[in-house]
Amino acid sequence: MEKEPRRLIFGSTPIIFLISLTLLYVGVDFFCGNKISVDRWVQYFSSSEATFSKTLEDQEFMNFHLARLVRGEDRRNFETTGFACDKAIHSIVCVSNHPVRIDNNNMTIYVPSDSQNETVIRPYARQEDELKVITPVHMIQYLNTTITPPDCQYSHGIPAVIFSSGSTGNVFHEMNEIIIPLYITTKQFQSRILLILEDYKPSFIAKYGKVLSHLSNYAVMNPGTNRSVHCFPGFVVGLKYHDNLALNSSEIPGGYSMSGFKHFLRQAYGLKFEHVSQIKKPRLMLLSRTNTRRFLNEDEMVLLMKELGFEVIVVRRSKVVSNLSKFTRMINSCSVLVGAHGAGLTNEIFLPSGSVMVQVELLGTEWASNTYYGDTARAMGVKYLRYKIEGEESSLTKLYGRNSSVVMDPGSVYRNGGYRTARTVFLDQQNVRINLVRFRETLVEALSIVTDLDR
Ligand SMILES: *[C@@H]1O[C@H](CO)[C@@H](O)[C@H](O)[C@H]1NC(C)=O
Ligand SMILES: *[C@@H]1O[C@H](CO)[C@@H](O)[C@H](O)[C@H]1NC(C)=O
Ligand SMILES: *[C@@H]1O[C@H](CO)[C@@H](O)[C@H](O)[C@H]1NC(C)=O
Ligand SMILES: *[C@@H]1O[C@H](CO)[C@@H](O)[C@H](O)[C@H]1NC(C)=O
Ligand SMILES: *[C@@H]1O[C@H](CO)[C@@H](O)[C@H](O)[C@H]1NC(C)=O
Ligand SMILES: *[C@@H]1O[C@H](CO)[C@@H](O)[C@H](O)[C@H]1NC(C)=O
Ligand SMILES: *[C@@H]1O[C@H](CO)[C@@H](O)[C@H](O)[C@H]1NC(C)=O
Repeated sequence: MEKEPRRLIFGSTPIIFLISLTLLYVGVDFFCGNKISVDRWVQYFSSSEATFSKTLEDQEFMNFHLARLVRGEDRRNFETTGFACDKAIHSIVCVSNHPVRIDNNNMTIYVPSDSQNETVIRPYARQEDELKVITPVHMIQYLNTTITPPDCQYSHGIPAVIFSSGSTGNVFHEMNEIIIPLYITTKQFQSRILLILEDYKPSFIAKYGKVLSHLSNYAVMNPGTNRSVHCFPGFVVGLKYHDNLALNSSEIPGGYSMSGFKHFLRQAYGLKFEHVSQIKKPRLMLLSRTNTRRFLNEDEMVLLMKELGFEVIVVRRSKVVSNLSKFTRMINSCSVLVGAHGAGLTNEIFLPSGSVMVQVELLGTEWASNTYYGDTARAMGVKYLRYKIEGEESSLTKLYGRNSSVVMDPGSVYRNGGYRTARTVFLDQQNVRINLVRFRETLVEALSIVTDLDR
């Protein structure tokens, strides 16, 4: 992943734009160097959480926010035993407010208790994702008369949050299963936590360092290299998951929404545009895939976009764009994002609200397109337009024939061949030659949405 070259190609982007972006970076970096952001002050004066932090002792602050991560029976357990786990369909999150010892050598946590028990979880937001390499964490509740835990080598005054970066590299999974869950799980601690990142990858830190440093005041710990025993006044193991690229304010810990998360991302990455009306000239980013689901007449598509009045940025292989600091600002400066169904569309999360995302729905991707990126766009205040291709536009017509069930009835491939077969056919074998006459209509609609803002 780290080895991949960064190949950002700008479809004849005016030089002025590049220069102004450079200036913007300098400005933003300068501003971010200032530790106490406006965000913090606003939060300080407006949120009841902050008032708590001011008046309660550190221990009470920690207890209060740890308790928010468990509910009902689990909350009562937490209050009586100092340890509890919230078990949901996808994620398991365990918390403790007892003085614990974490042995990084084998990720074993010793929790002093009145009874003996052991709980093992894989600290990843989607537990059922068996393909991911996630180091398990053992939490041992022990009676101090029966077990003597190893001595502390380092003591910390704040709780630890343990999670895994899993097998990274796919922006959808990173956002869906790590970044959003991490935000949901830790934001209320107001950076007074220490992050312990299992299965640590430098590329993950390079990419999401700004998010992590906006959630914790301390350097991220890599237990793979720091093989000591650490004492903490409490912990969170695992990350809370709500839904597909989603935040639900009624779910644990309560009160988090997509708009809050987008605000947080703007702060973390120093993004300039909150609403599309702040962008003067309509600018369109085309995510150009190079392996699968390629646009076979991409040059013509770009010409059409320019002819309609868009400034066009073509990004080849969005996945490669690992310098998120740079890339997020670029997306945030766009009023329209266009791409074929695929993980790169996750980047819609950086668009200003009121902007438009156009998803090119290939044959057999209708359900996934809508579920994964359409619903999310709507939840984040981005207008969602579908461009559903017709049989003739798909390369599968050549491959299987115009009257084949693959082209005529994609659903039957799922029903008869199963998910894996369908995946191979529709996601791996399919490219598209866009019908420019029909596509123009979609682009015109997108243009009118982002230019006609008085409606
Ligand atoms: C972890 O290591 C400690 C000390 O070496 C040992 O006592 C404990 O049983 C180990 N835990 C696991 C889960 O292997
Ligand atoms: C012990 O831990 C297991 C696994 O987390 C849990 O199902 C069980 O209820 C616990 N038992 C007690 C007595 O707490
Ligand atoms: C065990 O815990 C009890 C109650 O917290 C405490 O009074 C006692 O000193 C502890 N014993 C050891 C050996 O640490
Ligand atoms: C391990 O972490 C402690 C406390 O955060 C730090 O002081 C120490 O230098 C680290 N050791 C290594 C080998 O990274
Ligand atoms: C949010 O969570 C609540 C409680 O779990 C649930 O009833 C509701 O359907 C969820 N909302 C969405 C949009 O999923
Ligand atoms: C990302 O881009 C920014 C701005 O151009 C630059 O300052 C930074 O060093 C880059 N980060 C990495 C990890 O390449
Ligand atoms: C596809 O079906 C139509 C109508 O049934 C038929 O006219 C046409 O010849 C068929 N085309 C091919 C390539 O089989």
